Amino acid sequence: MINVAILGYGTVGSGVYRVITDNNDVVKKSIGEDIRVSHVLDLREFPGDPVMDVLTHDYDEILNDDSVSIVVEVMGGLEPANTFVRKAIEAGKSVCTSNKALVAKFGTEILDLARAKGVNFLFEASVGGGIPVIRAINESLTADHFDKIYGILNGTTNYILTKMSDEGLSFDTVLKDAQDKGYAERNPEADIEGYDTCRKIAILTSLVYGRFTDFEDISTEGITKITNNDMIFAKAADMSIKLFGLTEKNEKGTFSMVAPFLVGRDDPLYSVNDVYNAVNLHGDMLEDVMFYGQGAGSLPTASAVVGDVVELAKNKGKVLPFGWSADKLMLSDVNEYETAFYVRVNSGDASAFKNSFADVKCIEAPEVTGEVAFITEKMSKTVLTARLRDIEPLQILRVN
Ligand code: HSE
Repeated sequence: MINVAILGYGTVGSGVYRVITDNNDVVKKSIGEDIRVSHVLDLREFPGDPVMDVLTHDYDEILNDDSVSIVVEVMGGLEPANTFVRKAIEAGKSVCTSNKALVAKFGTEILDLARAKGVNFLFEASVGGGIPVIRAINESLTADHFDKIYGILNGTTNYILTKMSDEGLSFDTVLKDAQDKGYAERNPEADIEGYDTCRKIAILTSLVYGRFTDFEDISTEGITKITNNDMIFAKAADMSIKLFGLTEKNEKGTFSMVAPFLVGRDDPLYSVNDVYNAVNLHGDMLEDVMFYGQGAGSLPTASAVVGDVVELAKNKGKVLPFGWSADKLMLSDVNEYETAFYVRVNSGDASAFKNSFADVKCIEAPEVTGEVAFITEKMSKTVLTARLRDIEPLQILRVN
């Protein structure tokens, strides 16, 4: 019998409890052994919920129970999650988590601790919710050098951008609607400012390159400055606007950033809409491979967490080759990263703009008055800024 303890009975924790109990037949078949949730740790009471049979308020009860071999951390946040995860590992238990903040900040240390203790630390659900991209990177995408990883890694912002584009609504209106419907948090900063995506691309980059990538080194810009006119110009150019977490390794360096990008119809992420997430990797042998699915939500995320539980249960007593080294990946200045740029300016600046750039495409959008938008040739932001001279752009976005 595999006994699993769940830390936190919130959105993901209750989903994990449900997947292990409702889908017990399939989970048991995957492991080849019986499995049950033996403990759920939460400060609250849940009267009438069957979880009451296994609910505890005392973490020591889990730590001191040698029959618990797997601890699932789904509390979120840095503390007490960090302390609890380390204590579980110290007690010889394997841990899995959906907590990207924890993995991005302390993943390197916790992976080292787990190796030293002969147990495992897995975090499939920390990136892309239910999409099994981490296991695929670790186990299947092992024969390529990857020069580019990019993805839509946040459901909330993708929902907002989709709705702005489809319904011609402003950022503030859509954010409020998303909050009212419970899609966006009351404090939406981590999503809309790109911090959540930043942690996720840091985790993916660390895994793909096998070296710790510090999320604090990643240039991060959210979606709060995208306007209706940007959406109109993007559509007129047959493009969509998506918030990307992106890492690219090329002859100029290794660049990592979070930013809204204009995306053409030929890009596989062009039509990834609503709360869906997608990750695209480009390898030297494989070329493009894309993963697509629900990036958030109780049951899709729980399904990925339980995938880790199965992996841990199948590999009891074995340290899995997983993670990255503490040797930090040095990132280059994103201002030197070369892309085409979308630039929106006041109509009065249009001719000065055309004179400064040899090769620009003007986007025609008759419904917008007083503003013009251009797409430049490929260049660095440093060169773009120098060429703009005294033109004050209203918007600058990269084009993928
Ligand atoms: N706030 C996140 C999102 C939840 O909107 O994608 C999943 O990490």
